[in-house]
Amino acid sequence: MADKRALVTGGAGFIGSHVADTLLAAGYDVTILDNLSSGRRENIPSAAHFVEGDIVSEDAAALVRSGGFDVMCHLAAQIDVRRSVEDPAFDARINILGTLNLMEAIRVASPKTRVIFSSTGGALYGDFDPPPSSETFSKDPEAPYGIAKLAVEYYLAYYGRVHHIDTVALRYGNVYGPRQDPHGEAGVVAIFCNRLLDGRALTVFGDGTQTRDYVFAGDVAAANVLAAGAVLPPAARLDARAFNIGTGVETSVNALAASLQRAAGSDTPIEHAPARAGELARSALNTSKVRETLGWSPAKSIDDGLAETYAWFAARRAGAAA
Ligand SMILES: NC(=O)c1ccc[n+]([C@@H]2O[C@H](COP(=O)([O-])OP(=O)(O)OC[C@H]3O[C@@H](n4cnc5c(N)ncnc54)[C@H](O)[C@@H]3O)[C@@H](O)[C@H]2O)c1
Repeated sequence: MADKRALVTGGAGFIGSHVADTLLAAGYDVTILDNLSSGRRENIPSAAHFVEGDIVSEDAAALVRSGGFDVMCHLAAQIDVRRSVEDPAFDARINILGTLNLMEAIRVASPKTRVIFSSTGGALYGDFDPPPSSETFSKDPEAPYGIAKLAVEYYLAYYGRVHHIDTVALRYGNVYGPRQDPHGEAGVVAIFCNRLLDGRALTVFGDGTQTRDYVFAGDVAAANVLAAGAVLPPAARLDARAFNIGTGVETSVNALAASLQRAAGSDTPIEHAPARAGELARSALNTSKVRETLGWSPAKSIDDGLAETYAWFAARRAGAAA
């Protein structure tokens, strides 16, 4: 049997490159589409085909129409929540219109392609109900970034209901791990790693008791590959094909800083700065649905994942210095 064909948009990025690695290990033929706006060439696995291009372009639509892909893991996005606040139209152009460009190509010419969309759990549910949030909790995004993710999820439900396209939305917690950069939703891990390596104080906004659900990138990649191969009931409405991908554990910024200090063997001081406006106090995801439906659960504990991430940043620093 020929290899299954996968398209990974955003595959030169942090999470997308882990998804590409894991698909390759599972025997997929992998093509990466990325415009390298935040992704890096060195993240692209050598066994993958690489197409440099923008998801809003006609060339990207043509690639989807002609590629014969069994699955499209769609990770390419404008990921900066603060930029979405400053320029919501730019965010919508990439995150909504870019996605629609690919979805229309699938509808017209490749309707058997399963779409696995990288959505967000951390920026979708508000904090009106106490965590852990399950998929059916009310959605009250705090920023245009989350609004665009929610809009795309409604479009996916529409494509499922009206055009019978097979779609899945994976709602990630705060993803951290090797290759991350400081700009994503879990940017604090990269920022703290770099600070520890510089021997500079770690800045904690507010009292540091605010919590997030930190999930390791390798675990997120495994969820994508499971979702790519799973037999699932038809997708027809919002939430039906949505799965939270997290640990269910709330980790405070203070606990995160302490764990990274242990990993670094450092007693770098912690300094506090004023709390940032509009930040959620608590966030964690209920992951019962993905455990029961896809059989996925996170393999990495937070302390092990943070130690591995710190070691990666340290090795990169040592490599750059050599
Ligand atoms: N990092 C997190 O904690 C987190 C949490 C929830 C959801 N997500 C989602 O996961 C996905 C991947 O995020 P990441 O953290 O790996 O970010 P990233 O910036 O490392 O990856 C995004 C990739 O998309 C590419 N890209 C951006 N705009 C593009 C365009 N117009 N055309 C083609 N390629 C384009 C970038 O070059 C980059 O390689 C995104 O959809 C993001 O919204 C991330």
